[in-house]
Amino acid sequence: MLDLPAPRALPSNEPTLSYAPGSPERAALKEALVAVGAEVPDIPHIVGGLHLREGAPREVRSPQRHQRVLGVFHEGGGAMAERAIGAALAAAPAWAETPFDERARIFLRAAELAAGPFRQVLNAATMLGQGKTAHQAEIDSACELVDFLRFNVAFATQLISQPLSAPGAFNAVELRPLEGFVLAVTPFNFTAIAGNLPSAPALMGNVVVWKPAETQSLAAYHLARLFEAAGVPPGVINVVHGDGPSVGDACTRHPEFAGLHFTGSTRVFQSFYRAVGDNIARYRTYPRLVGETGGKDFVLAHPSADVDELAVALVRGAFEFQGQKCSAASRAYVPRSLWARLRARLVELVAELVVGDVEDFRVLMGAVIDERAYARLITWQARMNSDAGAERVTGGGASRETGWFVEPTIYRVDDPGHSIFHEELFGPVLAVFVYEDASLDETLDLIDRTSPYALTGAVLSRDRAFVAEAARRLRNAAGNFYVNDKPTGAVVGQQPFGGARASGTNDKAGSALNLLRWVSPRTVKETWVPPREVGYPSMREA
Ligand code: SIN
Repeated sequence: MLDLPAPRALPSNEPTLSYAPGSPERAALKEALVAVGAEVPDIPHIVGGLHLREGAPREVRSPQRHQRVLGVFHEGGGAMAERAIGAALAAAPAWAETPFDERARIFLRAAELAAGPFRQVLNAATMLGQGKTAHQAEIDSACELVDFLRFNVAFATQLISQPLSAPGAFNAVELRPLEGFVLAVTPFNFTAIAGNLPSAPALMGNVVVWKPAETQSLAAYHLARLFEAAGVPPGVINVVHGDGPSVGDACTRHPEFAGLHFTGSTRVFQSFYRAVGDNIARYRTYPRLVGETGGKDFVLAHPSADVDELAVALVRGAFEFQGQKCSAASRAYVPRSLWARLRARLVELVAELVVGDVEDFRVLMGAVIDERAYARLITWQARMNSDAGAERVTGGGASRETGWFVEPTIYRVDDPGHSIFHEELFGPVLAVFVYEDASLDETLDLIDRTSPYALTGAVLSRDRAFVAEAARRLRNAAGNFYVNDKPTGAVVGQQPFGGARASGTNDKAGSALNLLRWVSPRTVKETWVPPREVGYPSMREA
């Protein structure tokens, strides 16, 4: 039967609440921080609707207070992944037969729950477990999550452009889910992405095994509760916690592995591609691989740029959420003519920036996610602090006493080929190259060829001709290109997000392009009055 949903208009973006002193949302969030922090849940795997607490227990700790335990999850591994695959495949026939409108209603209910009763729970879990400020949590686990859920429904209804039906026949295209199951592997840095990666394929009729990042287990637990409360049937989204490689192996070896929806590191995504290549002859269908990975996102300042605007774009772009966004500004190219003024302004702004526990609402930067991230970043700082070719403009220190705090750090580096300009650090470290104003043209080439990534980039300029030239020359250097803005903060429905080159498959999360990857179209032709002779008129004798 063809399932043709009525096209729906695009919704509006979920409004961002302010959390200003005295606001009701601020009081509600403070209450939720206490309640969510006190719960310390024993987080289950969810397999075919069953809550399973099997496997070695592992603590979830707060990045800003690493002695504080926020919950416990269980090491699932390959065996639990195989059970989840079994449960997913058992649920697949009924879910694929469920009319689109019914599936849509479940995810629209999830959106309402996320906007309402779950809003402050998810915000609190994201603040406590991932170290986001109230504002960063709100734009992620509230607004972006709700937008993904609502916009995906609307985009899905707009996917089918039905073919022509010539007289005597009826033609249609039906969007079928993929045969098999989809693996969703989600990152620590966005609760919204953790919600979107399993729910987008599920909306399109697929069944899913979802492996959340260990460091995002607390918010993932509340997201899984949200999906259950919305009415996602048992087996449609199965959650397996714990060791990623063994879950990945169990899934990529399985003949019914139909797709991967991934956000995370370039190295891990490449290992999935490799595993799929190694197993290619086993599969019933060619798996769809959709991945968003790293970035080395640039900001290019033209000599006409406004220094105050540039400084704010750099500080927000590089340091919000501790630089742990794939989109974070991590390399800046600044003309000699602006550098002295910009340097002074950056030092001033960073000195005013409050770093600390995000439960203190004055804070703009919290702790980095865990000890591994902290160790990687202080190793970089030590290396750069003693590099004769690098000037430490601000920061360069860290503290692990209560939490994993790394100072907002800026280096001006002489060599534009230095590894700090092409390796992703994923933390609050910005590298600046000061170019001679006369070398602007070469600087465009330098930006394009320095890093293997191509996720986001920004140009700040008051010269429109230069903006056009930079957009043309940097066409393939970023999947999200910003003019006179920071390179972070894409909004669903407004700036579809994703990049190419080493940054991923550029399938633009939260857009119709992404949803198309989760369906396999079937064309149906029905002829009203079939012919009763083999020959054609041209074959008759005159
Ligand atoms: C991300 O996916 O890491 C960031 C999205 C954004 O900031 O635009």
